[in-house]
Amino acid sequence: MPEWRVFASADALVSELADALCAEAKTAIVAHGVFHLVLAGGSTPLALYRELATRQAGDARWHIWYGDERCLPADHPERNSVMAEAAWLAVSRIPPENRRPIPAELGAVEAAARYAGWLKAVADFDVVLLGMGEDGHTASLFPDHDWGDAPGSPDVLAVFDAPKPPPERVSLSAARLNRSRRAWFVVTGSGKREALLRWKRGEKLPVSVVRGRLETVVCLDQVAWPAGK
Ligand code: 6PG
Repeated sequence: MPEWRVFASADALVSELADALCAEAKTAIVAHGVFHLVLAGGSTPLALYRELATRQAGDARWHIWYGDERCLPADHPERNSVMAEAAWLAVSRIPPENRRPIPAELGAVEAAARYAGWLKAVADFDVVLLGMGEDGHTASLFPDHDWGDAPGSPDVLAVFDAPKPPPERVSLSAARLNRSRRAWFVVTGSGKREALLRWKRGEKLPVSVVRGRLETVVCLDQVAWPAGK
């Protein structure tokens, strides 16, 4: 089971997570010269990305990947890459060639194939950031869909009929996300409580099959997980 860390507030969560991320980047760069970070989509990580921008986090040794993307035009405001670029990456010192959005504008099948090709050159990710939906989905791995957790699963999945719009998406598989040192989930807000309870009870959900080799941490605020729960 992952480690559950409940923070006093969403602000405290963001501040301590930014500390941990920058510290992990230093460790990775000392160890192997680069830091491979997978970004989460959705609205929850936005505050963290803004905090990283404020801290001017990142440089030419950082490599940015995405856990999933929505099949929308490259400049569409609902794209996870557009959100992360606007909140942090576009003002960072991370060179554009190190910031690799999923080319979801090409359609799920083509984009998944392209991204899988780019990922071949990458061993384990250092940190994977992930969100969670109210149904227990993470990245674009949804209940009643292939999570790509079986041995031999492809690294990147084309996703259709996703219950969260838009229906066509691209997602790293659970197997590829698990090739990471640290997996950090960021979950805030009351709407996620039921799914968190199901996860804690050991129900098999998309979130429950994604974990890091060294650690898996679920970062929660007290709205998502009230004290004493
Ligand atoms: C997406 C995300 C998705 C997200 C969760 C939580 O593209 O929608 O990658 O997995 O992390 O749905 O979304 P919120 O953070 O907006 O609640």
